[in-house]
Amino acid sequence: MAQEKPLLTVENLSVEFTTDSGVVKAVDDISFEVAAGEPVGIVGESGSGKSVTALTLLQLVPDPPGRITSGRIELDGIDILSKSQAEMRQIRGDLASMIFQEPMTALNPVFTIGNQMTEVIRVHRKVSKKQALQLAIQMLDTVNIPSPEKRVKQYPHELSGGQRQRVMIAMALSCDPKLLIADEPSTALDVTVQAQVLKEIHRLQEERNMSMILITHDLGVVAETCKRVIVMYKGKIVEVAETKELFRNPQHPYTRTLLDSVLTLRD
Ligand SMILES: Nc1ncnc2c1ncn2[C@@H]1O[C@H](COP(=O)(O)OP(=O)(O)OP(=O)(O)O)[C@@H](O)[C@H]1O
Ligand SMILES: [Mg+2]
Repeated sequence: MAQEKPLLTVENLSVEFTTDSGVVKAVDDISFEVAAGEPVGIVGESGSGKSVTALTLLQLVPDPPGRITSGRIELDGIDILSKSQAEMRQIRGDLASMIFQEPMTALNPVFTIGNQMTEVIRVHRKVSKKQALQLAIQMLDTVNIPSPEKRVKQYPHELSGGQRQRVMIAMALSCDPKLLIADEPSTALDVTVQAQVLKEIHRLQEERNMSMILITHDLGVVAETCKRVIVMYKGKIVEVAETKELFRNPQHPYTRTLLDSVLTLRD
């Protein structure tokens, strides 16, 4: 049987930052693939290059100080690194979307939720303001925000942290992306809300059969959500495995340490 082409292929990607104390290799020659509809986790200690990897996929690394020094990224047949920022604005939010840790910084405090959501929709879809608002309301309902027709008229500060993150998810999914990149999407939230938001993301990923890259410190979350896991350490990928296999039989010493620390924390 012919293998289906992966939705995302990353080959020999390296990213450096020039800082006062010298050049930091944030991402060091990494290669990986994500299949269509596949949820993949990226784990690794702080500073291992997870966020820089995610940002690079959508050309969101600030240059300077960041610089992509080598590699290729192919997303749905598109050579991402050959695209201009103007072209990337069309790709972001449409073919691929990203959700970040802190929804308050991603939402603009002076515009209503509805305003911001319709704006995003109208960048990518030729619809009227009214139609875009209808779609926004429908999306808020999809992510289980109660009374969405009221919510669209509110400002970000009028919502709880969990609801703001749901708005971000709704916005990210409003144009039906093939790839969702979620970078620690629940870390800034209260512990009880964290689980709900992650459950929501997991459900939507399955329902919409999206590819997903989920970045987290929590191997428990990965175990519940992701089919495969990528383990990063000091800018390199040190292990890629089926999630079950990683837990059963971690290969790299760093992965063993990571698993041990989770087990110790949960004792
Ligand atoms: N804007 C920047 N300027 C300089 N160095 C940066 C910048 N962004 C990231 N780096 C460096 O790149 C490396 C990788 O950082 P990255 O944010 O990808 O880590 P991470 O794995 O996401 O960590 P965390 O789990 O804490 O979020 C680190 O050494 C970091 O200091
Ligand atoms: Mg990070």
